[in-house]
Amino acid sequence: MARILALSGTPGVGKSSVASAIATAVNAEVISMAEFVGARNLQDAYDVDRSTRVVDEGRAREALLREIVVGRSRDDVEWVIIEGLMADVVADQCDLAVVLRLDPRVVKARLELRGYDPKKVAENVQAELLGTCTYHMQEMRKDFLDVDTTGKDIGEVAKAISSIMRGGGDKEPYRPGLVDWISRPDIDPAAFF
Ligand SMILES: Nc1ncnc2c1ncn2[C@@H]1O[C@H](COP(=O)(O)OP(=O)(O)O)[C@@H](O)[C@H]1O
Ligand SMILES: [Mg+2]
Repeated sequence: MARILALSGTPGVGKSSVASAIATAVNAEVISMAEFVGARNLQDAYDVDRSTRVVDEGRAREALLREIVVGRSRDDVEWVIIEGLMADVVADQCDLAVVLRLDPRVVKARLELRGYDPKKVAENVQAELLGTCTYHMQEMRKDFLDVDTTGKDIGEVAKAISSIMRGGGDKEPYRPGLVDWISRPDIDPAAFF
């Protein structure tokens, strides 16, 4: 009987990297939502203006819920990790839910490095600044971890989360609400709009 982890966060925060590091630590299989949605044609429409694909949330949830049923029945892995920007859509049905957070200035640098166009960079940096993924997650469930990854390497983040998955580890530092970029004296929100 495998357990299910939902791992969400703004693009560039490290979801895919952290998911594969956790998978090695706890014997897990990773479902990447980007691949999952692409392979099943769950895109709603092609948003030409934002050069981004919009996911049909209802169909994505249905497809992932079936995957969760299959995942739970597995005994060859301890966990199935659903990682993606929209992993919150099934977070209510998962055993643990985590949102990865990252200083918006670092998000900006990472997305520019990825070659995202300026509009898409701005949109995602603003989403992180405002805590959009955290907001969506709290709509789905009240207990989840909001993990600030800033200044931590991939292994450290994976270790903190996998300790909690194993039943140890302190959840208190990851209580939602503690990450608050807008109130930080060194961050000027207006600089990202
Ligand atoms: N904690 C971290 N410290 C430094 N670099 C990281 C960290 N997490 C991810 N990265 C790097 O940032 C980039 C984006 O990571 P990725 O896992 O693809 O993010 P996501 O899946 O959330 O979009 C990659 O180049 C990755 O190596
Ligand atoms: Mg990714």
